[in-house]
Amino acid sequence: MKTQTSVLPTILTGDRPTGALHLGHYVGSLRQRVSLQATHQQYILVADLQGLTDNGSNPKKVADNIVEVLADYLSVGIDPLNSTLCLQSALPALAELTMLYMNIVTLSRVQRNPTVKHEIAQKGFAGSIPTGFMVYPISQAADITAFRASVVPVGDDQLPMIEQTNEIVHKMNSLLAEPALVPCKALLSNVGRLPGVDGNAKMSKSLGNAVSLSASPDTISQAVAAMYTDPGHIRISDPGKVEGNVVFTYLDAFHPDTAYVQALKTHYEQGGLGDRQCKNILNDCLQALLAPIRERRAELIADKGQLLGILQAGTEKAREVTQQTLLEVKRGLGLPVMY
Ligand code: TRP
Repeated sequence: MKTQTSVLPTILTGDRPTGALHLGHYVGSLRQRVSLQATHQQYILVADLQGLTDNGSNPKKVADNIVEVLADYLSVGIDPLNSTLCLQSALPALAELTMLYMNIVTLSRVQRNPTVKHEIAQKGFAGSIPTGFMVYPISQAADITAFRASVVPVGDDQLPMIEQTNEIVHKMNSLLAEPALVPCKALLSNVGRLPGVDGNAKMSKSLGNAVSLSASPDTISQAVAAMYTDPGHIRISDPGKVEGNVVFTYLDAFHPDTAYVQALKTHYEQGGLGDRQCKNILNDCLQALLAPIRERRAELIADKGQLLGILQAGTEKAREVTQQTLLEVKRGLGLPVMY
């Protein structure tokens, strides 16, 4: 357990609880959170309200996935003694700050956010965009600023959210008698985005190309067997292409011995190394990574009460911090604080 928490830089990160976390989350954020928790005051937000912004008619899906995401977190090594796990909908200051921030962000600014534009097209909302979805970057700015986070680990698709957050920080601070909000910077993961097993640029549950952290040994083997390689590599003796070959992208992301992977690549490019053999090596590596995670996860999910207890304790702590920020903003705006 860390002792000098007050001098450590604060991180806020989180996920929408809309499905099981997968290898893409592991590479892109979970692995990084496990190491960052030692050197930062790390808050991890289960963003159920944000999950509802595009699941308004399916609240059960979001509610049911809260414990699933918690089990994913703990099974990969996020430690509730070193990270604070909290629930967005149980932190009213986040919703109140969102209401205050909405008044200093124009509609055209919201409509200009490239990630939101892309998601609208992808989700096929067309003319029926939920209002809550449209303004979720403002709500995310409320999340980040309420915790006074200076560091936000994100994928590159979230950079527009950080930019919009800092615009809100500056505008709001200029309106307050005393600045209360802290600007933040993005911490980009040093590994690129993990492609799906089919070679699609992004691993995503909804695209059906993901391997979840709780995948069974058979599911893992099947995913590796079906993995996209080099379609031009017909015979073992043919020289193969490593670039765009998902098996090698995964070996780079997961195999602990980089020199060994480099030697495999050279051999593959020269010819004489078969896809089957490369896939066997990757399969062994993924099975070894996921077996302990799957076991821990099964134990954790068997006791949902304990998982919710951990979330409750973290949320109490988060409530103090976020409530304090809200108070300072209200006072700074000159609003009477009647509680
Ligand atoms: N937008 C993030 C996602 O889609 C989840 C999230 C909500 C978040 N609030 C946040 C991430 C604050 C970082 C900081 O996964």
